[in-house]
Amino acid sequence: MDVTLEKIVSLCKRRGFVYPGSEIYGGLANSWDYGPLGVELKNNLRDWWWKRFVQSREDIVGLDAAILMNPKVWEASGHLKNFTDPLVECKKCHTRYRADQIEKGAACENCKGREFTDAKQFNLMFKTSIGSTEEKTGDVYLRPEIAQAMFVNFKNVLDTSRKKLPFGIASVGKAFRNEITPGNFIFRTLEFDLMEFEYFIKESEWQKQFEYWLKEQEGWLSDLGFGKKNLRTREHGADERAHYSKRTVDIEYNTPFGWKELFGLAYRTDFDLKNHSKQSGVELQYADPETGEKFIPHVIEPTFGLTRLTLMVLLEAYQEEKDRVVLKLHPKLAPYKVAVFPLLRNKPELVKVAREIYGDLKAKFAVAYDDRGNIGKRYYSQDEIGTPWCVTVDFDSLTDKKVTVRDRDTMKQERVEIGKLGEYLDGQLSK
Ligand code: GAP
Repeated sequence: MDVTLEKIVSLCKRRGFVYPGSEIYGGLANSWDYGPLGVELKNNLRDWWWKRFVQSREDIVGLDAAILMNPKVWEASGHLKNFTDPLVECKKCHTRYRADQIEKGAACENCKGREFTDAKQFNLMFKTSIGSTEEKTGDVYLRPEIAQAMFVNFKNVLDTSRKKLPFGIASVGKAFRNEITPGNFIFRTLEFDLMEFEYFIKESEWQKQFEYWLKEQEGWLSDLGFGKKNLRTREHGADERAHYSKRTVDIEYNTPFGWKELFGLAYRTDFDLKNHSKQSGVELQYADPETGEKFIPHVIEPTFGLTRLTLMVLLEAYQEEKDRVVLKLHPKLAPYKVAVFPLLRNKPELVKVAREIYGDLKAKFAVAYDDRGNIGKRYYSQDEIGTPWCVTVDFDSLTDKKVTVRDRDTMKQERVEIGKLGEYLDGQLSK
C-alpha cells in the first residue's frame, strides 16, 4: 500500500481538501474544515447517494429536519440512558481512554502510568440550553444520530406521501458525539455528516430486507470504485450492538490504521416507533390497505458516514506512480471534471480560445483553468487532485478547431473538436 494517513492529511491541506479547524487560533482538536476541493468531493458523494437511494427509487422519500429536538425524543429513543461508552482515566495525567479499547495491563500512552480509574459510563451527547443564561431553560442536545427525526416524522411523512410498506425516509446532515477517543484525521470526529435512511417493513420480512440492503450498500461502494480487497463485513456480537439493534453488520475498510467501520446496517425492530408512540401518546401505526390490520412497522437502517466515506474514498484513490501522485477518483466524484489550459500563457490567441472553452464548459461541469508553468507541471497538479481530463489549446487548435484531451488514468491523448467537447465529456461521465 502506497498510502499512509500522513500522506492524505498533507495532500488534503496542501491542495485544499481539508484544513485543520480554526487553524489561525492554533486549531481545535479533532475539528476539520472542508476547503474548495473537499466540499466538492463531499457534495458529490452526498448527491450521488441522494440520487441513488432517494430520487431514483419509488419507495424512499427525503427529510431535512432540525438538529435540536425536544429532549423527550432522547428519553424515548434510549439515548439519554444508553448512548454511552465506558470511560477510564489515567490516575496520574488524567488522559481518558475507552475502557473497551485498551488492553488489560497496558500503560498510559501519555505518561506510561499504569493506574486507571474504574470504568464509568460516559454519555456521548453534547448538551446545550435554549434561551439566555439568566432564564431557567430546558436542556437540549445536539443530535448524535439523524435517525430520530425520521421516526418522529413517521406519521407526517406517511400522511402526506401516502407511501405503502415497505418504504423508507432518508436524511443527510450533521451529527455530534462527544467521543472519548476521536482521531485519525476525519475518521472519528466530534461532528460529522451522516447519510441514513429508515426503511419501514413488516416484521416477517426483516431477514430478507437485511440481506437486500447489505447488498445495496456493497453495490454502491463498488460503483464508487472500491475494490473488494479492501472491504469486508463484520457481524456485531450481542454485547457490542447498540441498545436498539437486534442485528448489526458493519462494512469495514482496510485503512492504514487497521480494518475500520465504514458503514453500518442495523435491524432496529419496532424499538423506536414503539417508544415514541408510548412517550408522545401519538399513535405511530401503519394500517395495511388490504387487510386493514394496524401495526407498528419494523425498521432496517442502512447508515453511511459521509465524512468517513470521504476519507476512505481518498485512501482508495491515492496512488503513487513513477513520476506522479494520482487520485484515481471516479469521474463523478472528482472535484473538477476537466481542466482547460492554453499551451502558452503569453499567446493571447491561445488564451482567448482557452477562456472561451472554459466559459462554455463551466455552465455544465466543474472546470479548472490553469496557465501556470509548463504542461507537464499542470498535468501533475491535476492528477494529484483527481481531475479526469485535461484539455489543451495549442497552435493547431486555431486552424483545425480541435483540442488535445488527455486522460488521467491512461495518460493517452486524443484530438476532439472544440464544438463537441461537452458531448465528449457527457459520454465519458455516463460510462
Ligand atoms: N443511526 C445509526 C448510527 O448512527 P452508528 O454506527 O453509530 O449508527 C453511523 O454511526 C455511521 O456514522 C458509522 O457507520 C460511521 O460511518 C459514522 N460515524 C460514527 N461516529 C463517527 C464519528 N465520531 N466521526 C465520523 N463518523 C462517524
